[in-house]
Amino acid sequence: VPLAEQDIVWTVVVAAGSGARFGAAKQYERLGAERVLDVSVRVASEAGDGVVLVVPAEDVAREAAATPSARVVGGGATRSDSVRAGLAAVPAAASIVCVHDAARPFASAALYSAVVAAVRAGADAAVPGVPVTDTIKVVDAGAVVTTPPRASLVAVQTPQAFRAGVLRAAHATGAEGTDDAALVEATGGRVVVVPGEARNRKITHPDDLAWARGELRGASRP
Ligand code: CTP
Ligand code: MG
Repeated sequence: VPLAEQDIVWTVVVAAGSGARFGAAKQYERLGAERVLDVSVRVASEAGDGVVLVVPAEDVAREAAATPSARVVGGGATRSDSVRAGLAAVPAAASIVCVHDAARPFASAALYSAVVAAVRAGADAAVPGVPVTDTIKVVDAGAVVTTPPRASLVAVQTPQAFRAGVLRAAHATGAEGTDDAALVEATGGRVVVVPGEARNRKITHPDDLAWARGELRGASRP
């Protein structure tokens, strides 16, 4: 068996949002002894070879001082713009790039391993997905267009892993999406799904942070 070619894995952690639904810059909220983004950067660092942290432009100097383990850059107006800013700071030597929402502090190192393994096995991209429990309808102007069979749907999380060149090409078009895999899908790439984690919930509203703090307390209980 030939030695597997060594992949170099970098992660872009996007934390440049404004937290409109949360009502504050949620990435800086405390979660135990750390802040939400610190937890996300720490796990990403453990899981790969390097991290680019993307924060609001006005916070770059402060966060670079607070996070010496990462390359810190300023983000853009949309999530896709922020990913592009992060990608520009990923070394050319990286062969696999993961993109992770700072707002998902409970993504495990094992989840990074799973998406990276799927890309190493030949996929252009790999995303964590969990079955949906609600029925989801496609709507237009308040009227239902169609109801996709629930068994065919998954709710998708981050970290999402990509062959570096595929992600760079997908983002070179300047396209917009609520995740990065959508841009790769649009260019005809093969995106596979690995099992996501129920605990890997995104902090979107204040009750999500209350839940996350409760999870931490539960985890520290004997
Ligand atoms: N994000 C980013 N740059 C943006 C918008 C979002 O880096 N211009 C990041 C957020 O910081 C977050 C992740 O993308 O970690 C997922 O986005 P979301 O949960 O929507 O966070 P916000 O955009 O901050 O929240 P909201 O949409 O409620 O304003
Ligand atoms: Mg947003």
